[in-house]
Amino acid sequence: MPKIPYSMKGIYDCELIEQSEVSEGVWLARLMGPQIARSVTAGQFVNVQVSKCTDPLLRRPFSVHAAYPDEGAFSLLYVVIGRGTRLFQRICAGEKISVVGPLGTGFDLGDQPHTEHIVVAGGCGAAPLHFLCDALCEKWGCEHITVLAGGRSKEAVLCEDEFRSHGVDIEVATDDASYGYGGFVTGLLSEVIGQRKGNESNIRIYSCGPHAMMREVARICHESKVANCQVSLENNMACGIGVCTGCVQKIKAPHTQQGWEYKRVCKDGPVFNAEDVIWE
Ligand SMILES: Cc1cc2nc3c(=O)[nH]c(=O)nc-3n(C[C@H](O)[C@H](O)[C@H](O)COP(=O)(O)OP(=O)(O)OC[C@H]3O[C@@H](n4cnc5c(N)ncnc54)[C@H](O)[C@@H]3O)c2cc1C
Ligand code: FES
Repeated sequence: MPKIPYSMKGIYDCELIEQSEVSEGVWLARLMGPQIARSVTAGQFVNVQVSKCTDPLLRRPFSVHAAYPDEGAFSLLYVVIGRGTRLFQRICAGEKISVVGPLGTGFDLGDQPHTEHIVVAGGCGAAPLHFLCDALCEKWGCEHITVLAGGRSKEAVLCEDEFRSHGVDIEVATDDASYGYGGFVTGLLSEVIGQRKGNESNIRIYSCGPHAMMREVARICHESKVANCQVSLENNMACGIGVCTGCVQKIKAPHTQQGWEYKRVCKDGPVFNAEDVIWE
């Protein structure tokens, strides 16, 4: 089944096909949702009702980790962090879950062949970047992609085998130096950009992970003069569809008096140019 080139945003009852714990406290859920699977693009997210009753009231947002348009399925990779994700993790295969999506604006994959794409993932930020690698490989070929995946320890580095199976170059960084580069993934990024000195204009960087990590990715790109750096923000959300302003982020706006304006991460993002974000 070919991809539908327009968004089929809606509310769908999606059957949970299966879910399993892939690393301690990290779950991979596969859901049936043909409209979402056939129209979602890399970097978009869905808003999941994790309970059949009204408590918790708010849906929980998760980036799409992979789409399988032929099967009509898609997957989510999530960390169990609080009440909502604990409830999600208890849903059994065969149960129906209400899902709103696909939502938001995804990554811009560029329009120049021979560009080098560097993907910087921190922890569960690997979820949208896994889908991004699928899309980049399909559009540009996997040989143009380098993934830098970071985690607190070896066990916290997510999707390593999946990235490898794409055939992309991958380097791993661990905070506790238990595996790969010893230190933050942003230290590894500095080294990798340094190796490409003089070629910065040919690089595109994509990142998702903890806020502080993305802020540092943005700083490194700015200082190294890598102009094209996109970050996928994960601000707390309420409605997820652009009406409550609960997720706003200060974004540079030279045309305004104060030089910035609030943008809604759920509707205007979650992907933004790192240069435009006012990092606080
Ligand atoms: C666009 C978007 C995409 C996301 N994609 C993913 C994904 O692919 N995988 C994944 O594991 N998580 C993802 N998240 C984060 C996920 O939505 C939250 O972890 C989840 O809503 C927490 O729900 P909870 O009820 O379990 O935790 P809560 O009980 O609501 O919160 C528990 C703790 O987590 C903190 N928290 C809640 N939401 C966030 C957040 N958005 N960012 C940082 N801390 C938060 C709270 O402040 C609190 O300390 C995404 C968030 C956004 C906005
Ligand atoms: S969550 Fe309501 S506007 Fe973004």
